[in-house]
Amino acid sequence: MTIRPLHPQDLPAYFALRTALWPDSADDFELEVSKILNNHRLASFVAEQNGQLVGFVEVSLRDYAEGCESSPVGYLEGWYVVPEHRKTGIGRRLVQAAEDWARAKGCSEMASDSELSNTQGQQAHARLGYQEVERMVCFRKSL
Ligand SMILES: CC(C)(COP(=O)(O)OP(=O)(O)OC[C@H]1O[C@@H](n2cnc3c(N)ncnc32)[C@H](O)[C@@H]1OP(=O)(O)O)[C@@H](O)C(=O)NCCC(=O)NCCS
Repeated sequence: MTIRPLHPQDLPAYFALRTALWPDSADDFELEVSKILNNHRLASFVAEQNGQLVGFVEVSLRDYAEGCESSPVGYLEGWYVVPEHRKTGIGRRLVQAAEDWARAKGCSEMASDSELSNTQGQQAHARLGYQEVERMVCFRKSL
C-alpha cells in the first residue's frame, strides 16, 4: 500500500472516492481538484493498493482553527477510506502524510472537524491524538 500525493491522472478514481464522502460535491469536482493541484495551501494524499485508490485525505492551511494557538494550522478537510479497507491502518497513514505536509509548511498544530453525529469519525480522530475542543451548531438565513 502506497500513500502519495494526488496526481492529475487519478481523477476518475478520485471522483468516486470524493463523492462517496461528499455526495453533494460532484458538480464542483473539477474546480475543487484544480484548486488542490494548483494551490500551495491545499494538498491531497491518496492511498493506492494494487493499482486501486482506496482512500484519501485533503489538507489545507487555515489561518485560524478553533482551539488552536498558532497560525497557520494544518486542517483535515476530508478523510476517507473505502469501507472494505477500513481499520487496517490506512486512515492513520493518510493523516500522517497530511501532518508531515503541514509540518513542512511550518505548522505546529493540526485541526479538524466532524459532524456531531459521526461518533466513529470522532473516535478515529481521538485514536490519532486529536482532542475535542468545541461543539458547534451552524445557521443560515436568506437575504
Ligand atoms: C475515519 C476513517 C477515515 C478511518 O479510516 P481507517 O483506515 O479505518 O483508519 P485506521 O484503520 O488507520 O484507524 C485509525 C485509528 O482509528 C481507530 N478507528 C478507526 N475506525 C474506527 C471506528 N469506526 N470506531 C472507533 N475507532 C476507530 C482505529 O482503531 C485506529 O486506532 P488504533 O491504531 O489506536 O487502533 C474511515 O473510518 C472512514 O472513511 N469513515 C467514513 C468517513 C469519515 O467519517 N471520515 C472522517 C470524518 S470526521
